[in-house]
Formats: sequence, C-alpha cells, structure tokens
Amino acid sequence: MLYLLDTANLSEIRKAYDLYPMDGVTTNPTLIANEQVNFIDHLKEIRLIIGEESMLHAQVLSNTAETMIEEAQYLLEKIGGNLYIKIPATSQGIKAIKILSQKGIKLTATAIFTAQQALMAAKAGAAFVAPYVNRIDNISGSGVSVVEDIVRLFDTFDINTKVLAASFKNVQLVHNSLLTGAHSITVNMETFDMLIEHPLTDWSVDQFVKDWELQYGRGKTVLDMI
Ligand code: E4P
Repeated sequence: MLYLLDTANLSEIRKAYDLYPMDGVTTNPTLIANEQVNFIDHLKEIRLIIGEESMLHAQVLSNTAETMIEEAQYLLEKIGGNLYIKIPATSQGIKAIKILSQKGIKLTATAIFTAQQALMAAKAGAAFVAPYVNRIDNISGSGVSVVEDIVRLFDTFDINTKVLAASFKNVQLVHNSLLTGAHSITVNMETFDMLIEHPLTDWSVDQFVKDWELQYGRGKTVLDMI
C-alpha cells in the first residue's frame, strides 16, 4: 500500500518525509493557492524535498481536453521525476486521460464521487483514481462504500488502476477505506499524525523511562550502559 501526503505546504512535506514512510505528495489547485506561491517554482521545491523517485501528483486547471493536454505536457516538461498528472473525471477529463495515457503519461483521475466515474477513468487509462471520501460523506453518501465498490469493480474486471482514497478528515475513514482494499491513501498532515497517536502509547513510554531512571539515573539511555 502507499502513503501520500495531501498538501502543498513545504514544512508539512519536510516533516512527513522526515518521520513517516512516505510514497508521495498530492496537491490540488486549492492547496497550491493557499500557499500563495508560483505554481511551477513551488512544485519544483516539492520535488527537491521528496526526490525524483517519490510520486508527485499535480493537477491541471482547464475545462477542455485540448487545454488539459497542453497543461499536462507543460507540467511534464517543467517538473521532472515521478510525476502524475491529476485530471478531474469530467467527460473532457476522460477524453484527456484517454489521449495522454496512450502517450504513456501517468495520470490520476481526481474528484471522483461515484464508482462509475472511477471505472470510466480506469478504462480510459488512469493509473490512479481518487475518490473523495469525506466530501461524499458530507452529501449524505458513504465515501467508504464508494471506495469499496471501486475496489470490487477493479477486482472483477482485473483492472490494474489503483485506488487512491482521498479527502479525509478522520482516522476511522482512513481505516475503513484501507479495509476495503484501497491500494493507497492521501491524507492531510493533521490526520496523518493522528494515524499513530494514542495516549496509552505516550503513557507507556513515560512509564518505561520513569522505571529505567529510578534504577539507572536521570537522563541515562542505552548508550550509557557499559
Ligand atoms: C485529492 O487528491 C484532493 O487533493 C483531496 O484529497 C481533497 O481533499 P479535501 O476534501 O480535504 O479538500
């Protein structure tokens, strides 16, 4: 499975890559705009932090397939490394995915709200599909059920496209999405940290240190044992 960080914030990316076993970063136009930066320069900075091998997903903005294709080619030319072009699963987006995938360009179909959108994007040649779990829940749907249906359809038809479950606001949605067999998740920094937080873990660590220091002295570690 793959862990991706859903952010365009450089400090968050540095932190996640320092601490966690990261596979990539996903950005979207909102996340980039929030940083108030030059788009291409910023993507280059992200690439420098994560390295050439790590996946970087960057989104196009246009509404027509023709211009989406031009934007995709521009991004590929400017940003090197393991780059995935994110294209929304509109009919124009599907057309762009169909054409770009034939040229061997790696694509992520984004803004997926139904399993049929995911199936169509996969058939058009997307490497990943990104269902927006929390946003589906916010319109009284079940994001996890949509993820589950996509995973099932891909298994049924032996489709290689991977599910990149996205748009999370809590750990349980991440957990339930992964239980369906979703291949990858993209999660914001706050939720990412919460994936491993537990008060009993912190309590246990404190207790170990207290017991150790009672016997061996304050501040002593394994390195002080001869
Ligand atoms: C996916 O790639 C999107 O960037 C994303 O997960 C949207 O998440 P949000 O609903 O938290 O904005």
